[in-house]
Amino acid sequence: MLNLNDFIENSIEGIKNEIGNEKTIIALSGGVDSSVCSVLVKNAIGDNLTAIFVDNGFLREGEADEVVDIFEGRLNFKYVDAREEFLKGLRGVTDPEEKRKIIGKIFIDVFEREAEKIQAKFLVQGTIAPDWIESEGKIKSHHNLSLPGGMILEVVEPIRELYKDEVRDIGRELELSDKLINRQPFPGPGLAVRIIGEVTREKLDIVSKANHIVSEEVEKIGLDKDLWQYFAVLTDSKVTGVKGDQRDFGYLVVIRMVTSLDAMTAEVPELPWDLIKTISKKITSEVSQVAHVSLSVSDKPPSTIEFA
Ligand code: XMP
Repeated sequence: MLNLNDFIENSIEGIKNEIGNEKTIIALSGGVDSSVCSVLVKNAIGDNLTAIFVDNGFLREGEADEVVDIFEGRLNFKYVDAREEFLKGLRGVTDPEEKRKIIGKIFIDVFEREAEKIQAKFLVQGTIAPDWIESEGKIKSHHNLSLPGGMILEVVEPIRELYKDEVRDIGRELELSDKLINRQPFPGPGLAVRIIGEVTREKLDIVSKANHIVSEEVEKIGLDKDLWQYFAVLTDSKVTGVKGDQRDFGYLVVIRMVTSLDAMTAEVPELPWDLIKTISKKITSEVSQVAHVSLSVSDKPPSTIEFA
């Protein structure tokens, strides 16, 4: 079993030796891996680490504020508001793979701009064991990263040998909050991949509200502990509904809840019917653009967890 204190002490010593006095950056997403890395590296090299939080506008309701609250003051932390840039880049794009590529590219552009301002030499990444084991060791332990604008950064991966549960244990030892540590996995491209078709400000608002309702209701009855992920997807379909005595034409939202050990496979468990009905009623009454809510019952495989 991993000795947490030994790991933390050795890791801090190792990072000090590796980085020395050089400027270093990390992309802090607020997920457990990048959060643990940020605190570890800060404890080793202090303010020579700048943690950059890129707000792409695809985060869950309240998430950006939460991340700022947790880390501002605790780290040399920089919030970068890139919401407009991402939304503009995705204008007219409907293909899911193209969306992911564009989001990835804009992210790197924004990040490189910030890294240049700092003149960083090192980049900390929150790679964990399954990331490189699954890619059959293709990610080498010592490597450089060349960014498109010409910057070359030396990569440091403090939690490379750890598994997710161990990262969570280290997070607790570093006094990160339970809420942050137990957060459900959330894709890097965020809500943008939970919108089928073009990403617009209106659709982001709809999916974010629907998603918040799903989270709130699941967490209220403590079911979050049994689920790997629980969220809402906004489809591109508009269907007929009735509001008051008027016919209404609104979006179809899908609720997805799965159990899983490692996201390689996933299952839709039997779910409390009251919960599903409550979520459905809340979404259709509180999110006016939604006319219909359905429940996904497909396991992975053959479906993936995300819809796009
Ligand atoms: P799929 O949809 O492939 O997802 O069954 C498996 C797990 O990976 C998450 N996921 C992502 N995470 N960037 C990420 O960081 C992504 O682009 C991405 N796509 C999917 C997904 O939420 C699930 O937990």
